[in-house]
Amino acid sequence: MSFLPQDVKFDMELIKKYDKPAPRYTSYPTAAEFSQEVNHEIFTQKVVESNQRKSPLSLYFHIPFCESACHFCACNVIISRRKEVVEPYLEYLFKELEKTSSFLDENRKVVQYHWGGGTPNYMDKNQMESLFKKSKQLFDFDKDAEISIEIDPRYIDKEGIFFLRELGFNRLSFGIQDFDPKVQKAVNRIQPEDMIFNIMKWTREAGFESVNIDLIYGLPYQTLETFTDTVEKTIKLNPDRIAVFNFAYVPWLKPLQRNIIEEALPPAQEKLDILKMTIEKLTNAGYVFIGMDHFAKPNDELAVAQRERTLHRNFQGYTTKAGAELFGFGATSISMLHDVYAQNYKKIRDYYNALDKNIIPISRGVLLNEDDIIRRDVIMKLMCHFRLIKDEIQRAYNIDFDEYFKSELEELKQLEQDGLINIYPDRIDVTPAGRLLIRNIAVIFDIYTKAKKEQKFSKAI
Ligand SMILES: C[S@@+](CC[C@H](N)C(=O)[O-])C[C@H]1O[C@@H](n2cnc3c(N)ncnc32)[C@H](O)[C@@H]1O
Ligand code: SF4
Repeated sequence: MSFLPQDVKFDMELIKKYDKPAPRYTSYPTAAEFSQEVNHEIFTQKVVESNQRKSPLSLYFHIPFCESACHFCACNVIISRRKEVVEPYLEYLFKELEKTSSFLDENRKVVQYHWGGGTPNYMDKNQMESLFKKSKQLFDFDKDAEISIEIDPRYIDKEGIFFLRELGFNRLSFGIQDFDPKVQKAVNRIQPEDMIFNIMKWTREAGFESVNIDLIYGLPYQTLETFTDTVEKTIKLNPDRIAVFNFAYVPWLKPLQRNIIEEALPPAQEKLDILKMTIEKLTNAGYVFIGMDHFAKPNDELAVAQRERTLHRNFQGYTTKAGAELFGFGATSISMLHDVYAQNYKKIRDYYNALDKNIIPISRGVLLNEDDIIRRDVIMKLMCHFRLIKDEIQRAYNIDFDEYFKSELEELKQLEQDGLINIYPDRIDVTPAGRLLIRNIAVIFDIYTKAKKEQKFSKAI
């Protein structure tokens, strides 16, 4: 039988048996391993070393501000209607850009450039223009660079969409979450249908190459019936990519979520029915399952990269720019270099204070040893390709795969018996039914999470 990574099968029993909390593996080791072992000095040294690899650059900018609070939100946000908060933030962002870029070889090209948040369109046009100009002034952009932005559809008009395209953005992403007015009210995010359909029309007229929309399942008052309507409307919208996130309900970490009435959350079985329906409807409509929570049109770059085994995963999720090293700017941003991950200060005050001292505002991170790098490769190959070819790992790291992962291969036998994977002498294939549980397969190779019994993650499904 031919192996197609996009084939996915919803197996209710298997999901019920295996759906245990596990990391999302946007990195390995995960952010749970970050500590103060990485400071600005170590990071700066690693930035300088990274020039030897001559790897291209991926730049991420975190704009934390939002006009109002969506009660479900688990992102790092600052809710404020006082727009004057942006000016000092930009000033410090420029300082950080200048500082970091001064250590980087100017021949390294930017192949990926992203504004996320929060809400980047919280900034006014002049502010957006100045940030874009500053970036272009300090870095050399590849002519095919992927230049993307996340927007909140409630705070943009037609002119605003065209402005972003003219500025240079070629990809755009926005949140819908759910079309149902009752759900929208419960999560404090009202966005009428007309508004969404208009935005989509304008992004097409403006010529964006790829448009993504976000949905969340598991929100209060959602039912199979109401979410079916949301999925059908989304298909009608015809985006290139769709992210369907499982609601990460973590009120112990995100106090904002205490506004959510717990009793209104759909029960576990309803959520599974919703997920099954969503996968069936999206794949029947021609979307390809990329992995985890992502779907794309077959001709979208993500789907092409999946077919060609060049798909990659980093703190921003799935990406096509495998060789690039990620530099994060702004409060809470994470940088991901070959052998170090480093996060900026979360509190804006701390972030500003560090830059006042003229240092890169790193608060914590993790250094990767050789074993971490091998395991990261294994986990990322599983997450992105659903097929792990042992020889690729053996040749890259000069190890005997079966010997190195002897105990993991033993543990995997149970997963094979249950139908999540097939183990062959030369490879491990994740079955279509196992693909929805990829986090629970990947965790077998994660020595840190396995060592911690009481870790609290959001549930995988
Ligand atoms: C930075 S926002 C997107 C841009 C813009 N701020 C907006 O809301 O339209 C990132 C996305 O994360 C997702 N998200 C936020 N909190 C979440 C949670 N608790 N569980 C699952 N997904 C969540 C939402 O789908 C949201 O669209
Ligand atoms: S979902 Fe978007 S708009 Fe809402 S609070 Fe989170 S980042 Fe802000």
